[in-house]
Amino acid sequence: TGAITIDPGYKNTGSCKSEITFLNGEEGVLRYRGYTIEDLAEKATFLEVSYLLIFGELPTASQLEKFENDIRKYTMVSEEMKSIIDGFPRTAHPMGVLSSLTSALTAFNPKSVNVENEKELYEAVCKTIGKFLVIATWTFRKRMGYPLNYYDNTKGYVENFMRLMFELPTGPYKVDPKVVAALDKLFILHADHEQNCSTSTVRIVGSSHAGLFASISAGVSALWGPLHGGANQAVLEMLQQIHDNGGDVAKFVLKAKDKNDPFRLMGFGHRVYKNFDPRAKIIKKAADDVLGTLGVEDPLLDIAKQLEKVALEDEYFKARNLYPNVDFYSGIIYRAMGIPVEMFTVLFAIGRLPGWIAQWKEMRLNKEPIGRPRQVYTGSPLRAFKEVKDR
Ligand code: CMC
Repeated sequence: TGAITIDPGYKNTGSCKSEITFLNGEEGVLRYRGYTIEDLAEKATFLEVSYLLIFGELPTASQLEKFENDIRKYTMVSEEMKSIIDGFPRTAHPMGVLSSLTSALTAFNPKSVNVENEKELYEAVCKTIGKFLVIATWTFRKRMGYPLNYYDNTKGYVENFMRLMFELPTGPYKVDPKVVAALDKLFILHADHEQNCSTSTVRIVGSSHAGLFASISAGVSALWGPLHGGANQAVLEMLQQIHDNGGDVAKFVLKAKDKNDPFRLMGFGHRVYKNFDPRAKIIKKAADDVLGTLGVEDPLLDIAKQLEKVALEDEYFKARNLYPNVDFYSGIIYRAMGIPVEMFTVLFAIGRLPGWIAQWKEMRLNKEPIGRPRQVYTGSPLRAFKEVKDR
């Protein structure tokens, strides 16, 4: 073997060839299977985009109808899963519970999918998309102490998300179609982002031929961290902190620049985008629209806008090409919809699920070898073993 090049964080290492997502960080371009994120966010639905990512083509009307019906068929979750949820303390973070529940699904779906068999693969895809939504919302119900509920087959996927979250036994939950439309768009914007940390995790776990649920559960854990999907929760907490400190935006920008202070501007910066994150542009506009149509006034939106303005004019941020990313404004929209902050990253996971599935499928169908990076050993040279009595 030749010399090993170390690339911490894989900043310049490609791990695979992929046909799914195109990203140009310098120009701020994002496309799924050749379609621009702007077109998809404006004109498609989340399940349509999921189909596109996973199967490579936009579905025809009948393919889409079948896909929606097939997902619906798999939204029942085993009764025993409920007792697993019961075992968690109510204070548990929903992302930890979601990762555990996704892993627990392997117990009730033990058969590993034969990826070469189109029908089996299709069923596994529908099953994952169906069940994941239900268990994701159950993490919230557990936290709130609400009784667990079931998918309503007469309603769409995103509408069901709101119902599954908020419907109480006292009566039906009226879902605002504007909220559904905005959420659908947000899920599309999160649906894939090539070889990010959680997706790479899903591919690498899957590369050992671990099953789909096991691979997705690892992806959920990777997404949870505040440098990745967890940033959407961290942004809102930061904005709240700025607000509670009298709204002094400049002070926090100064803190973020201080190398002796671990504080970073959450929702700023990106490994690949060295220009505006195109998703952030769409979300910023959506934040104005959603808050406007819902008649919500949120002082945190004003703080976010001021913070963005001050940071974008600052030499430190300019020199490092640090722009707002997808997580910067999404939390403000979620908050306006009544979604509590600890659920924000769960929403990211629901959105990212089709991307994880598409990437897992591509990796398996391409027959990629097991993911196994090398290292350069920097530990002790050879040493003679000493008996415990001689140490
Ligand atoms: N605030 C202050 N300084 C920053 C920030 C920030 N948010 N982000 C990067 N920098 C600085 C960093 O200190 C470094 O400075 P220097 O060159 O002087 O040492 C330089 O910019 C390059 O940063 P890096 O940490 O080497 O870049 P990276 O590619 O390893 O990290 C990142 C990318 C997204 C983890 C990072 O920008 C960050 O921590 N941002 C805040 C967390 C966040 O918003 N994450 C969400 C990412 S987007 C969606 C997602 O993945 O979920």
